[in-house]
Amino acid sequence: MSKVPTVRLDKLLTNLGYGSRREMHIAGRHGRIAMDGAPLADIEQRVPLSPETAARLTFDGEPLDPLPGMALMLNKPVGVTCSHKDVGPLVYSLLPERWRRREPAVSAVGRLDKDTSGLLLLTDDGAFLHQVISPRRHIPKRYLATLARPLRGDEGAIFASGELMLDSEDKPLLPAFLDVLSDTEAALTLTEGRYHQVRRMFAAVGNHVTALHRESVGGLKLPDDLAPGAFRVLDAQERAAVLAV
Ligand code: URA
Repeated sequence: MSKVPTVRLDKLLTNLGYGSRREMHIAGRHGRIAMDGAPLADIEQRVPLSPETAARLTFDGEPLDPLPGMALMLNKPVGVTCSHKDVGPLVYSLLPERWRRREPAVSAVGRLDKDTSGLLLLTDDGAFLHQVISPRRHIPKRYLATLARPLRGDEGAIFASGELMLDSEDKPLLPAFLDVLSDTEAALTLTEGRYHQVRRMFAAVGNHVTALHRESVGGLKLPDDLAPGAFRVLDAQERAAVLAV
């Protein structure tokens, strides 16, 4: 059986963004850090880095933030950018302010354009991030596209051919699968993630995407009850579903 790693409590809290080590010591002295409801005097003690420990700890009476190694799903609204640096509203501003100081940092798993909505995964777990974005895994991503012009009828075959070449690229796209939903609406499933891929694919067949929404990543679907801008932590089953292809 693998042993659960331990971490010093002051370090854990600092890495979760609650404040500097010094601030954590002061918080401890003021009784703001508690285990099973009882203030903890010794915040230099090592605690197991496990969900069970986290469930017993509170800061200012509130449950502790998710431990490092977490993954989230967020319903990305249109108009926010998946970047740490750009100007304008960023997806990270939809997360609690404290989370911006987390170490390791929380990052988007791949990107959605500013004008694309829907399922965005975020994680501080480098191994999970690499598994999801690895080109070798071919994790399918399903997008709903609304189009400016009616579909011609040949798009499905062109996208599935494995021969479509986008402007300024030197390799054809992998086969992608089109589900026609109406004259001007279709779901497109991709197993790679090139720059603005869905928009460029429809442009290559003489159309224009007016709205784009990501519905699923791997076997994980955006739930209907997750409002635009809202997020939640993935449980173990949901994480496994992302990678189940
Ligand atoms: N394809 C696009 O064109 N935009 C996205 O955000 C994702 C896929």
